[in-house]
Amino acid sequence: MTEKNSGGIDRRTVLKAAGAAGLMMATGAYAAGARKRYAVVGVGSRARMFTNAMTGPFRDTSEVVAVCDRNAGRLARAVKVIGETGASQPRPYSAADFDRMLRETKPEFVIVTTTDASHDDYIVRALDAGCDVITEKPMTTTAAKAQRILDAVKRSGRHVRVTFNYRYSPPRTQIKELLMSGEIGDVISVDFTWLLNTVHGADYFRRWHSNKAMSGGLMVHKSTHHFDLVNWWLGAQPETVHAFGSRQFYTPETARRMGLTGAHERCLTCPEKQQCSFYFDLASDPGLKALYLDNEQYDGYYRDQCVWRPEINIEDTMNVMVRYDNGAHLNYALSAYDAWEGYHVAFNGTKGRIEHRIVESGGAAGAAKVQSGSESVSIRVIPMRGQPRDIAPIIGKGSHGGGDDVMLNEIFGVDPGDKYLRKSDERAGAWSALVGIAANKCFETGQTVRIADLVTGLTLPDRAPMPDRRAPIAMPVRIKIP
Ligand SMILES: NC(=O)c1ccc[n+]([C@@H]2O[C@H](COP(=O)([O-])OP(=O)(O)OC[C@H]3O[C@@H](n4cnc5c(N)ncnc54)[C@H](O)[C@@H]3O)[C@@H](O)[C@H]2O)c1
Repeated sequence: MTEKNSGGIDRRTVLKAAGAAGLMMATGAYAAGARKRYAVVGVGSRARMFTNAMTGPFRDTSEVVAVCDRNAGRLARAVKVIGETGASQPRPYSAADFDRMLRETKPEFVIVTTTDASHDDYIVRALDAGCDVITEKPMTTTAAKAQRILDAVKRSGRHVRVTFNYRYSPPRTQIKELLMSGEIGDVISVDFTWLLNTVHGADYFRRWHSNKAMSGGLMVHKSTHHFDLVNWWLGAQPETVHAFGSRQFYTPETARRMGLTGAHERCLTCPEKQQCSFYFDLASDPGLKALYLDNEQYDGYYRDQCVWRPEINIEDTMNVMVRYDNGAHLNYALSAYDAWEGYHVAFNGTKGRIEHRIVESGGAAGAAKVQSGSESVSIRVIPMRGQPRDIAPIIGKGSHGGGDDVMLNEIFGVDPGDKYLRKSDERAGAWSALVGIAANKCFETGQTVRIADLVTGLTLPDRAPMPDRRAPIAMPVRIKIP
């Protein structure tokens, strides 16, 4: 059975929050006036989401005054692309001139979209210069770097925002609404499996992400999204982490078992490109070519490194157990070579269970996106000893399940206020990254890690009210045993 308005879901609130962005963009509801001044550091792929927003729907309220990158070619391209929109051209600065950029162009906000392990350096320097910061996830990659950021926030009194766009995807907000409503009581355990397929999943093993020193591995780079979702869904903080991780698929041995002679340096020059179905043609995509291939001369970075290289040091198979401060347990798995892409998550509560699943890409070659309708997104509530009930999912439009646009509106447009408290700062950034950082530590030592032993001075993030874990629970219906 599918219900349109069931389970106590405040569907209007979810839709209102989800649709606010589109509505304001469509009606041009922003008054022209003083524009906020932004500098962007790291003008690669992800930065475009921010610059497109600031030079597009939010150009009346926002201005990109400066861009900074260590790759001179990408830097020049960013200036050109932004200029072509008709917006004023930002001033370009090399990475070495970041502090001078802040002094000369006086941005109010610095948007950090560099590689993960370099976030902390720019966040701290921007805060100390008196700017507020908007940083991409993961906020950072090690406990020491997280500590630097927490200390700099306290020292500077400035603000950090971590852009956890996954929270804003409408079905995930719907899950938050269901959990807040007490539909399944208070949550005692969560089972969460995330699958990356051999198109998207393999891509992590081609890029800088395959170097743990740059990305923190998938436990930090990717799972920070997932750990943040669980922290936010539960309204609880992780206390203790235990984990196993290994690399079993993206190895020279797998290449040999698939009939190749072994690993090579990169796809562009690969002698076995005809035989390898993981071959990635960087030159054939004009966008990727312009961003990466045409700019290799400046930093020697190859976007198409061989996925079978022996020097890769991130895991492709990860299992994590987390105990939360409210007693809840999380059982989490991530793998990167799966037959389909997406996730399923189940919450077991004192009054029942919620099962939620999204298929983002099917198993077919080319992995066509299938997150397009309710057939690929499901939400089911199973009351304790009751009949399962399917809830009609709210389907988002646009990138990252519709989350990006909703979040951009909150950042650059009119913040509509949010009872789900999706806006995240350095505390949420740290609480999620530290689970992955703790898991990485477990991979090395085999020992359980306490989050409290990793950093000091990390306080609780703002949390939306969740069901009272001491409230009376209605006795479930008696089961008749024949
Ligand atoms: N929220 C999301 O869904 C999402 C999606 C994609 C990427 N991201 C995040 O966005 C960030 C950027 O990822 P991307 O995919 O754009 O990578 P990218 O490789 O396309 O771009 C990174 C850019 O940063 C520059 N850079 C690297 N180190 C630098 C340094 N020390 N100083 C100055 N510039 C430096 C590079 O030259 C490049 O232009 C990452 O933190 C990533 O985790 C988030």
